[in-house]
Amino acid sequence: MPVVPLRKLILSAAIAAVLPIAAQAAPAQPNDFIEVFAKIFGEHKGIRKGHAKGVCAVGNFTASPEATARFDAALFSGTAIPVSYRFSLAGGNPAAPDYARSPRGLAAQFTLPDGSKHNIATLTTPVFGAKDPESFLGLLQASVPRADGKPDLAKIQAFRAANPDTQPQAQWLAANPPPWSYATAEYFGLHTFYLADKSGEKVKIRWHLQPKDGVKGLSATELEQQNANFLDDRLKQRLADGAVEFDWIISFGEAADSENDPSVQWPARPTLNAGTLRINASGDAGCGNINFDPNVLSRGFSASDDPVLRMRSPAYAISFGKRLSGQ
Ligand code: HEM
Repeated sequence: MPVVPLRKLILSAAIAAVLPIAAQAAPAQPNDFIEVFAKIFGEHKGIRKGHAKGVCAVGNFTASPEATARFDAALFSGTAIPVSYRFSLAGGNPAAPDYARSPRGLAAQFTLPDGSKHNIATLTTPVFGAKDPESFLGLLQASVPRADGKPDLAKIQAFRAANPDTQPQAQWLAANPPPWSYATAEYFGLHTFYLADKSGEKVKIRWHLQPKDGVKGLSATELEQQNANFLDDRLKQRLADGAVEFDWIISFGEAADSENDPSVQWPARPTLNAGTLRINASGDAGCGNINFDPNVLSRGFSASDDPVLRMRSPAYAISFGKRLSGQ
């Protein structure tokens, strides 16, 4: 039997001890997310790797006179701007049940009069599930099912305990029923952005979309019925009675408010109603080939350094490229 020198043994043990920590500390890469989504949700060719289940819709946006007066932003000129929307369920499962206690999404692509685009892609939770890409990736990796196909709940719990930033979204989802309809949920932008005002100053903002139909969740009975596909029909039925509208509510941040952590909600701040998002019809295929990359911003808006926001562009681009080429 070969004799291993003691010094070498101690060295290998030390390397083995630090390796898992070093692996976790490595910066998350965009493709890591695409790979881990496939491990959790399976491979679904030609389909979005996140928010796989959803429905397209169309309508427009008109800024409020207050927003037009205060901001130097192309989106807030006050003219009606056509919008392509997509409502969705979070996760990479195209057959996710509509009663799932997971975030819903609302994405919108505005086409400005000069042809330029502005995208938003929002969630129904007032906080995101992690403070940065590494923490989000760690949570996803802990959520990969075991060999028997079941989630390793102890592993997920241990990860959440060691990473408290992953707890508030889960707590919110446990405490609030999923939306009764796509039209009866608030949708949060979550990241911090900057918006130019008329004096040339860049104002620190966050925002959410407030449904004019009011906020309404599924009742306990409806949750028990476990109807897997009602959201698209309910939206169509609602649209038969006229447009669905959301107010775009902007909050003005103070110096202490987080600029780069979407897992932390700002305290209540002064707000401005920036205008009305209007949805006129749903169920067309118009949003199929849209990448709602939230860093595509029109004149007047700029992105913060939030690392989660920064990670979204390359991750969405990979998902977009794959699904367009049938992967
Ligand atoms: C590092 C963090 C994130 C990653 C890796 C990620 C990843 C993805 C991917 C791969 C897609 C599919 C894109 C496509 O094929 O077009 C997607 C869609 C989406 N994500 Fe994220 N996401 C992240 C954070 C967020 C956050 C913070 C929000 C909300 C503020 C959000 C909201 C959405 C919505 C609404 C969609 C659906 C867009 C559509 O309908 O096409 N995501 N995400």
